[in-house]
Amino acid sequence: MSKTLIKNIKTLYTSKQVPPVKGGHMSDVVELNNAYILIEDELIKDIGIEFNGSLSNTSIYDASGLICIPGLIDSHTHLVFGGSREHEFSKKLAGVPYLDILKEGGGIHNTVKQTRSASKKDLYLQAKKSLDEMLLFGVTTLEAKSGYGLDLETEKKQLLVLKELNESNPIDIKITYLGAHALPKEYIDKREEFISKVILDLEHIKVEGLAEYVDVFCEFGVFTSAETEQIFERAIELGFKLRLHSDEIESIGGTEVAINLKANSVDHLMAITNEDILKLAKSNTIANLLPATSFFLNKDYAPARKLIDEGCAVSVSSDYNPGSTPSENYQLSLQLAGNKLRMLPKEILTAATINPAYSLDVSDKVGSIEIGKQADIILLDAKNLDYFIYHYGINHTKAVFKKGKLVVDNRRIIKEEIWN
Ligand code: NIG
Ligand code: FE
Repeated sequence: MSKTLIKNIKTLYTSKQVPPVKGGHMSDVVELNNAYILIEDELIKDIGIEFNGSLSNTSIYDASGLICIPGLIDSHTHLVFGGSREHEFSKKLAGVPYLDILKEGGGIHNTVKQTRSASKKDLYLQAKKSLDEMLLFGVTTLEAKSGYGLDLETEKKQLLVLKELNESNPIDIKITYLGAHALPKEYIDKREEFISKVILDLEHIKVEGLAEYVDVFCEFGVFTSAETEQIFERAIELGFKLRLHSDEIESIGGTEVAINLKANSVDHLMAITNEDILKLAKSNTIANLLPATSFFLNKDYAPARKLIDEGCAVSVSSDYNPGSTPSENYQLSLQLAGNKLRMLPKEILTAATINPAYSLDVSDKVGSIEIGKQADIILLDAKNLDYFIYHYGINHTKAVFKKGKLVVDNRRIIKEEIWN
């Protein structure tokens, strides 16, 4: 049995709420000064202030001056894709809207082309580089989607890369099939045929066990709420769980469909209606906000205050992708959640840990620092939780424990070979 004692933690912060953590409870965060955590194998065995137990066969991690929070959980990314889109950046700066670039055959279509022609190995290596970056920022659980194939072969290629990344890296990856991310060019006059094809492909994805969730980009000019419902109903029959890109630019009814079908999360919500906010508050669907996308698209921010004040359960994610959010810096998303979404540091902690754990069906294991839970723990070189959110743009993570193992120390990934 391996034992580790993390001692002298300046302050340990964790939610102990039962998720989904809604409204005012999002700021119910426990603080423990001068704390220790005892880890046995993968699990948290003990938490306290003064450790009096035996230290034989125990490795010690001295966390003097560091604060401690649960491993971060980024529950919305598009981790695997070919190439990049910096050549569209000047168009964007000239004011061409995101959906216009897509309509002209750029945007997602551009990445689809690059993803279709990339080898599996190239996709793996590119995504692995991003994944390492995310780990260094303190992310220990991640959701990642396909969606840049729009044909079964390439979607499967992306999903298989995610599966391999999950098996050979410390970060746990929860995988989502996003076959309906855009109408591919070859189906431009055959909309219905494409929807039927996505529905048919769901079966292959299920039979081969390639994804746990199904997502759709429900947006004006992309997929309608009726099309979303059609895809989701079949997905439910097959045993998938649901997540939805909804109200990113306009509100076209997707959020209501997702809530009615008990989706795990509705994501973006910059344009959510007041009526949908009230419905969401009554449901167990998580409102997943992606402020770095608003930042990069120069768009409005989601009404986080209203969502929380009405009693919704909120999470915050990065949306890492080559179009609307080309940054792996999840901590920046959390800092934007403070500065732009007006969320309080304790609410943000809940939104980055236990609520996304719930939306990814892993809140029994991770998302909080409690005895019996998996030891996914990060140590931050920050004076306190407020400082972590206030001092923006840098990486505060000094060390990462994943399943009880020290995988990042002194801002470096250690013993990487054991993961490969
Ligand atoms: O979440 N909105 C749809 N999907 C991504 C962007 C994808 C892209 O532009 O490549 C998003 O913002
Ligand atoms: Fe997205």
